[in-house]
This record gives sequence, structure tokens and C-alpha cells, in this order.
Amino acid sequence: KQPVAVLISGRGSNMGALIAASLDKDYPARIVTVISDKPDAKGLDHAREFGINAVAVPRADFDSKAAHEAAIIAAIDASGAKFVALAGYMRLLSGDFVNTYAGRMINIHPSLLPAFAGLATHERALATGCRVHGCTVHFVTEAMDEGPIIEQEAVRVEANDTPETLAARVLEAEHRIYPKALAMLASGQVRMGRGGQTRFAD
Ligand code: GAR
Repeated sequence: KQPVAVLISGRGSNMGALIAASLDKDYPARIVTVISDKPDAKGLDHAREFGINAVAVPRADFDSKAAHEAAIIAAIDASGAKFVALAGYMRLLSGDFVNTYAGRMINIHPSLLPAFAGLATHERALATGCRVHGCTVHFVTEAMDEGPIIEQEAVRVEANDTPETLAARVLEAEHRIYPKALAMLASGQVRMGRGGQTRFAD
């Protein structure tokens, strides 16, 4: 199984979905460490309940963004992880960080990219009048939320949806596509091409 580090900032429900999937003996990846920039992230406790190494690397402990990122890279590399999965990690990564894991780092985003990059995606989808919304797993590149797409799932918008009800249904879809996308990456079914495009194996 390919070793994976998961980066979180909060609840960690997507992290939980990856851990749950990885418990299957046939799943091609295993979660070797969970790293949070927030010491009080609920996901840290959840990971520890599964016996997974879980560490906080708070931004406030470092003088600069570069020093903080260097500490996270050190933690990832110490774990032996080959792949990195961002799961609600709410900090913009530098180009250096992204390039360190080029083609080996993926993210889940709560919209059908390229629509609604950034924050407050459910509010914006409702305000736009979208009838279809959803979620995306993509390779991480320097431009935020613009990396090549690996997997998406569409979610219908209902007439009486609020940002909260819509977010809850999108989250269920996130929990389906993130384990699927990580399995595709870990098993070599998908990779990032040199030109920054998604390549699926034949
Ligand atoms: C998820 O909806 C994820 O897609 C989103 O944060 C939530 C984290 O929930 N990520 C982003 O908005 C990234 N820009 P979780 O901690 O329960 O997985």
C-alpha cells in the first residue's frame, strides 16, 4: 500500500472517509500521518482513535510562512509518505511547497471546478441560481483550485436548499469521490502529465 499523509485544519470528515476506505485490505493506500495547522482540529483526535500518528504544526510556532511549510514538509517526509492529500487544509501553499509534491498532492474542493474556486462555494452556487453543484478532486498546482481534475460528482440543487443543506449533500459526495480519487492515484490509474494535464491509464 502506498503511504499517504493527510493535511487538515478542522473537522476532518474527508480524512475520516480516506481512513475508512484505507482499512479495506484491497485499498491501494494507507494513511501514515495526519498533520493539522490547527492544534484543536477535531480530526486529530479522530485519526488517533485509529492509531494513526497525528500532529499539530501551528503557524504561530514559526516566524515565517517558509519556516512553517518547512516544518510540515519535514513531518510529511519523516512519515515516509509518498502522496499528500489535502482534506480541508485551509492555508494557501507556496509554489515551493506545491512543487515539492508535484503530481503527488491532491485536494478536495466543494464545487464543480472551474466554477467557484475559493471560499463560500455553496452560498455562491445558490446565489448564482445553479441547478447543479458538486465537488472536485484535483492535483494541487500553484494556482489555487486550478490543478488538473481527477474526479467530480454532481449534486442537484433543490428549490428549498440553504447553504447548509446543500453543503451536507455535497459532503456526502465528497466522501465518495475522495477515496476513489486517492485509490486511482495510488494505484497508478491516474497521474499528472508534464504539461500539467490529467493522464488516465489505458
Ligand atoms: C470540505 O467540504 C472540503 O471540500 C472543504 O472544506 C471542508 C472540510 O471538511 N475544503 C475547502 O474548502 C478547500 N478550499 P472536513 O474537514 O470535514 O473534511
